[in-house]
Amino acid sequence: MRRPLPRTLRGQLTAGLVVLLALACLAVGVSTALALRGFLLGRLDLQLTASGGRFAASLEHEARPDADNRPDTRGQADATFGARLLGGEVTRAAVVDDTADRSVPLTADERRALAAVPTDGRGHDVRLSTLGIYRVVAVPGDDRDVLVTGLPLHPVEDTVHRLEAVEAALFGAALLVTGVAGALWVRVSLRPLKRVTAQAAEVAALPLASGEIAMPAPLADADPGTEVGQVGSALNHMLGHIEDALVRRHASEERLRHFAADASHELRTPVANIRGHAELALRRVGPLPGEVRHALQRIDAESRRMSGLVDDLLLLARIDAGRPLAHEPVDLTRLILDATDDARAAAPDHVWLLDLPDSPVVVTGDAHRLQQAVGNLLANARTHTPPGTETTVALTQEGTGVRVRVSDNGPGIPQALQGEVFGRFVRADHARSRATGSTGLGLAIVHAVVTAHHGTVTVTSRPGGTTFLLTLPR
Ligand SMILES: Nc1ncnc2c1ncn2[C@@H]1O[C@H](COP(=O)(O)OP(=O)(O)OP(=O)(O)O)[C@@H](O)[C@H]1O
Ligand SMILES: [Mg+2]
Repeated sequence: MRRPLPRTLRGQLTAGLVVLLALACLAVGVSTALALRGFLLGRLDLQLTASGGRFAASLEHEARPDADNRPDTRGQADATFGARLLGGEVTRAAVVDDTADRSVPLTADERRALAAVPTDGRGHDVRLSTLGIYRVVAVPGDDRDVLVTGLPLHPVEDTVHRLEAVEAALFGAALLVTGVAGALWVRVSLRPLKRVTAQAAEVAALPLASGEIAMPAPLADADPGTEVGQVGSALNHMLGHIEDALVRRHASEERLRHFAADASHELRTPVANIRGHAELALRRVGPLPGEVRHALQRIDAESRRMSGLVDDLLLLARIDAGRPLAHEPVDLTRLILDATDDARAAAPDHVWLLDLPDSPVVVTGDAHRLQQAVGNLLANARTHTPPGTETTVALTQEGTGVRVRVSDNGPGIPQALQGEVFGRFVRADHARSRATGSTGLGLAIVHAVVTAHHGTVTVTSRPGGTTFLLTLPR
């Protein structure tokens, strides 16, 4: 259903203005027309009363053609109507026509109407079929007769109609001008509101969720004396608070990032030292007691895992801090071939399939990081699926982008995990993960690396298959 009112405030104000003005014009028009009509009728009645029924009185009851008895039309206005009644019956009725008189034929209804006119000397309307509507005044005559004198009403009606036409034209023009000028005026008055809206929209479009945010400058003309100014100044206040909160959040994010980077960097050396000493101790000449050997082997394995973890954390911290990546041509075909070879060597009981284009596909980026990203996807296909699982790595070029698809027919990612699988330390089975050495950073690194390359990564998974799709710009 169409709305009867315009939706915008501007439209509503303009429409309201025009409607109000139209109502005012209508009221003025109707009242002036009524007043003018009343005034003209009053004058007509006055004129009729002043004539005192002289024309009617000069009408003989019996129409006789002799010249001496001609009715007295001197000084009578053209179209003056006169009738003489005797005993409630019209005996003669005539009208002044070009200073001469002329008999007026009357119907029975008209005769009755004339007879019914009260002899109160006031004006009454009577419709005569041959003459139109007449304003008539009846006065008692000398010989118990009634003298009815009338003047046509149409000049009054014509004047009133004329006034109505002039008013309609004037009011129409006034409405048009008011509509246009009012629309412009409302538009100008609401301009500050538009600025407020634009400001709010600009803020709404900002990526407020993360990072350093440059808030737009506050509205300059937020005059608290006006309603729009109040909205503007409230918005300015709100923006100030938001900016404050964002600056604080950004600072705390930065601190956390630096802490993570510093901590992982500081951990690298001691972890490497532990590893080195464990290796050294294991390589010592001479037999070692079984328990000591086992303990040293555990130290070696755990410190390896720890250094991997520290490296992952450091990489994430560096990407978070916006450290520039290498910017070199990377042969993705070669990279995928190598990564699949490694995966095949690490898990010979899995099936590894390749779907590569004939010509090499080259993108610009950081070879080492991209290799890590693809490696992590293949490691997942290896570690989170049972032996015999088939994994396909496909590479396709599409327009300006390159797609790498890693899909396996394993058990799939648990439903609860799918939404957050690219988050940090997100993994399915914590107890089991710890045993297998998984940390839940693999896909977070894939996401960070691909995003740093201005690409995207998505996952679709169901029981019976998981597909990761990387898209990289060329
Ligand atoms: N191909 C896959 N099939 C089934 N589950 C998967 C697959 N890939 C990832 N997952 C699930 O997603 C979780 C997160 O993966 P992610 O690579 O981030 O961490 P991880 O493999 O557990 O540890 P990390 O890679 O750091 O050693 C995994 O723990 C696993 O439950
Ligand atoms: Mg993994």
